[in-house]
Amino acid sequence: MKKCILLLCAVLAVAQAFSQPDNPFFPAKRLITTGIYYYPEHWDPNRWERDIKRISEMGFEFVHLAEFAWFKMEPEEGKFDFAWLDKVMDLCAKYRLKVVMCTPSATTPAWMRYQYPETFLMNSQYIRGEHGTRQLSSVVNPVYRRLVARIVTQMAQRYGKNENVIGWQLDNEPEAKHDFSPSSQEAFREWLKKKYHSIDTLNTVWGNAFWSQWYNSFDQIILPNVNLVGWWGSNPHAVLDLKRYLADAQGEFLDFQAHILREHISSHQFITTNYTAVSTGADPRRTKLLDFATYTAYPNGGTYNIGQQGFRLGNSNLILFAAEYYKSVGGVTGAMEIQPGTVNWGNFTPLPLPGAVRMWLYHIFAAGGKLACSYRFRQINYSAEQYHSGIMETDGETPSPGGYDYMQFMKEMNILRKEADTRAPLPEKLAKRSTAVLWNLENYWSFDQQRQTRQWDNWNYPVKFLQIARSLGAQADVVPETADLSKYNVVIVPAYELADSGLIKNWQDYAAGGGHLVITCRTAAKNRAGYLWEAGWAAPLTALIGARITAFDMLPDQYYGDVQTKSGHYKWNNWGDLLQPGKNTETLAVYNDQFYKGAAAVVQRKLGKGTVTYIGVDTDDARLEKDVLKDVYTAAGATTEQYPPGVFVYWRDGFYVAVNYSSDDYTMPMNSAAKILIGERTVKPGGVLVWKE
Ligand code: GAL
Repeated sequence: MKKCILLLCAVLAVAQAFSQPDNPFFPAKRLITTGIYYYPEHWDPNRWERDIKRISEMGFEFVHLAEFAWFKMEPEEGKFDFAWLDKVMDLCAKYRLKVVMCTPSATTPAWMRYQYPETFLMNSQYIRGEHGTRQLSSVVNPVYRRLVARIVTQMAQRYGKNENVIGWQLDNEPEAKHDFSPSSQEAFREWLKKKYHSIDTLNTVWGNAFWSQWYNSFDQIILPNVNLVGWWGSNPHAVLDLKRYLADAQGEFLDFQAHILREHISSHQFITTNYTAVSTGADPRRTKLLDFATYTAYPNGGTYNIGQQGFRLGNSNLILFAAEYYKSVGGVTGAMEIQPGTVNWGNFTPLPLPGAVRMWLYHIFAAGGKLACSYRFRQINYSAEQYHSGIMETDGETPSPGGYDYMQFMKEMNILRKEADTRAPLPEKLAKRSTAVLWNLENYWSFDQQRQTRQWDNWNYPVKFLQIARSLGAQADVVPETADLSKYNVVIVPAYELADSGLIKNWQDYAAGGGHLVITCRTAAKNRAGYLWEAGWAAPLTALIGARITAFDMLPDQYYGDVQTKSGHYKWNNWGDLLQPGKNTETLAVYNDQFYKGAAAVVQRKLGKGTVTYIGVDTDDARLEKDVLKDVYTAAGATTEQYPPGVFVYWRDGFYVAVNYSSDDYTMPMNSAAKILIGERTVKPGGVLVWKE
């Protein structure tokens, strides 16, 4: 009996570890909640009821309101008018729609520009922003802060206890924009004083002995202005601090709003914001008060992607990465904006392939997304986004193709809600492939200044490893360096340039404890301040990877070098570390040409109970990296799949979910017990498939 109880406890513990963790804002059984942006201020009030009724009939579950409506809520300074919004809220309640309320700080009313021009930011030419568009405020300006605090307080007092409001979105697509205004200059100096205390410490960390950059006092410092001085003038250590300061200021501005809301709102209302899927400035991990972070997803902005239909299906890497990365705040995420059809800002704006919007929705869902909301309900017939499609056509009554896709998705979610098993444990084969990709923005900022070759793709380099892990059938998270790595069977550290001995020790402990660690080129080349080591190249890594990096090479765009492994030849030209392995290190790949023919390109060693693999070469087609990783999974006791580029397969709540961004049909390998719930076994381009095994 005692044994049985112990066994039961063990089984329950495993089941809990792997099923969807409970989240206070999103009941597991609902799987995902869907919503739509509606801007009542854009339309004649006599249209509101028709539109909101329609939103409800189409199957949406919440409406996203007030994001850019500051002018309407505070038409004159200090005079508030919420009567119109109350009416819309009443209509939402009448039609059983929940509300996500937004703080309007991204667009300011005209009176603000007139009365307080200092609230606008300045660009790198020191030209002040003007009224008339969005995201032009200086988030550190005290007057702007005061005015934001007032409107946010008013909104929180009015809607913070409203049962129908499920949560709040702060601002819109926070960006951590460069801001050279006097307020920002002052805030930067304060930030530096707090960090360095003494000017000589700053001088040392910034390496100011170079080119007479030495400062006598903090008062002499201005924001490094790369645009004016040119690249040769930019001090990489100072620019790294500039990026950190901007991201901190952005994060602190969001926390400032969240703090005000928290004082007034009910605990059932969440606080989030909607970062862009690719956010190179704002760092969600720097906020402290968000319940979770969401992202905005516009996969198709006129790029080619995979095969002939790729330009209609969009960039398959976008949701792939964002859906994992944004979970690093609060453990869950979702898409606050999904492209509903064509956009107005693309390089070119093709019609999405019929079904593409549904596939993007399924991708968000597959990756564990808790909410899927779209920008916007009605296509507007005036102003800057006239050419941007909506869920409804310009007549306001006819659903667009994206609208139909959305309706289908919402109908299908009702089927899946009945079929879901939210306590289902992760299938064992997936648990064995559990993977983490370590990433942070600081490395991006550092590379952005010193890419060394125009072929170094800062953003897409780590994404490539997520893509490889997925193509091998692994569930993969994107995690910060502070994450508990012991949960993962494989940990990938792609080009983690800024490191310190503590971090390297964590990696070492992870591998020694039985983990399979994969480190790639450009990792630990610098310390946190951006200094190269006063030792060999990436010297702190030598012991861990069991090899010395003697040099690195890169080739011209049109010229390829050859790397050879036991299974074949691979082309490379982006980056190649020349490795000299130690005595217990195995060489997995060598350079097969150039004057250094025979030098190692990929090495591996055993460490304690685990392994460490170092991939020193960066290839365009990722074939080499993929083959190396496949062997790592095998060594880790995991099986792998061979999904083609653009086919992603996920597992959640007892389902497998597949999406196909490629231009070819793909027939899914399935066991005979599989039960298809949505789609067909052969998944068409832009198609989806949901099944249980
Ligand atoms: C997003 C933005 C929306 C809308 C949309 C158009 O980046 O958050 O407000 O402008 O782009 O595609």
